[in-house]
Amino acid sequence: MAEADAAVVRNEETEEEEQVVNPWEVSAGKGGIDYDKLVDQFGCQRLDDALVARVARLTSRPPHRFLRRGLFFAHRDLNEILDLYEKGERFYLYTGRGPSSEALHLGHLIPFMFTKYLQDAFKVPLVIQLTDDEKFLWKNLTVEESKRLARENAKDIIACGFDVERTFIFSDFNYVGGAFYENMVKVARCVTYNKVVGIFGFTPEDHIGKVSFPPVQAVPSFPSSFPHLFSGNDQLRCLIPCAIDQDPYFRMTRDVAPRIGYQKPSLIESRFFPALQGENTKMSASDPNSAIYVTDSAKEIKTKVNKYAFSGGRDSVELHRKLGANLDVDVPVKYLNFFLEDDNELEHIKKEYKEGRMLTGEVKQRLITVLSELVARHQRARAKVTEEMVDAFMAVRPLPNMFG
Ligand code: TYM
Repeated sequence: MAEADAAVVRNEETEEEEQVVNPWEVSAGKGGIDYDKLVDQFGCQRLDDALVARVARLTSRPPHRFLRRGLFFAHRDLNEILDLYEKGERFYLYTGRGPSSEALHLGHLIPFMFTKYLQDAFKVPLVIQLTDDEKFLWKNLTVEESKRLARENAKDIIACGFDVERTFIFSDFNYVGGAFYENMVKVARCVTYNKVVGIFGFTPEDHIGKVSFPPVQAVPSFPSSFPHLFSGNDQLRCLIPCAIDQDPYFRMTRDVAPRIGYQKPSLIESRFFPALQGENTKMSASDPNSAIYVTDSAKEIKTKVNKYAFSGGRDSVELHRKLGANLDVDVPVKYLNFFLEDDNELEHIKKEYKEGRMLTGEVKQRLITVLSELVARHQRARAKVTEEMVDAFMAVRPLPNMFG
């Protein structure tokens, strides 16, 4: 199927429930998000085992658990990037964050953890966009507050372990101009109002700030937007790791790229880390009870998991022993799938729980330990990030060790 415009994907089997996946809203019916349907509707490709094996072979390291477990499940032209890499050519990575809240939640960590793995495995440069302008336009924030949140979020991103010699982090308010702005207007001239409404679902009541924003997120896909990094390297390919909610931006970008003489960016896209309440929506920063934040204490994590994490266990112990848990809807197992590194232990838990020998309380207990350790590790790393380090990552400078 061609790269689709529809930001709203209708679920034909359940007429009344419709799944909505776009950069600002993710919701689905009771059955959860239908990712297969999304791949077909958006026109991206499935990330199959052969491609995962190829990544492992080319990088001479085991695939990240997000790859092994199909959590990054879709892509656009990843094979082209790998073909070039195999021939000895390099590429760069691009990802981002819209700083709408003080603290990241665990869902936000997914693309950054994965990007860190890709940076280490392929030894390539990385640009990280902080769309403080986007959050000013969409949320009720002042410019100053958006900029402050961008800097705070940068600390959490740096805490994921990126290499300062290969990473440029920028805020739109600080960086947009020059070659970046030239690319923005080149993109803008190629996208009609009808097109942007088709892709993003804007309505006549939306202010023009929203309508004119997409080129800002599009152009970091083009190396010429970063003359201090990629001067003379205008055809360098770009790979974008993100969750699939960001796909509309890059459908638009890929549509425009050849018309302005640039390469289309490639993408590698993940499923959503679900809300505590279940898979019909993603974990969202705007609903505190749906999310576990990187700032939560061990006690808060324990309370949230025990109180809110939707369980696929049965109503009584007797029934549970007899029927076993329904893993399709069980949030603790889904979370372990993202964060428990040991494949054997994960399989053991799934089997025991599914066959009723393990109870929800025991699975939740294991999850609480895994998440508390992860969050504590993150908090320790973040505490070490100084203002000087933020300045160093955000300085407009050549990267000394880009492809080293
Ligand atoms: P933002 O801040 O909403 O999200 C940041 C990144 O986290 C991903 N994400 C999730 N991944 C898994 N599970 C979840 N529950 C979840 N929630 C969010 C998002 O897909 C994103 O990758 N406009 C963007 C910022 C941006 C960007 C980019 C993102 C600018 N350029 C390039 C990706 C790639 C935003 O507001 O993301």
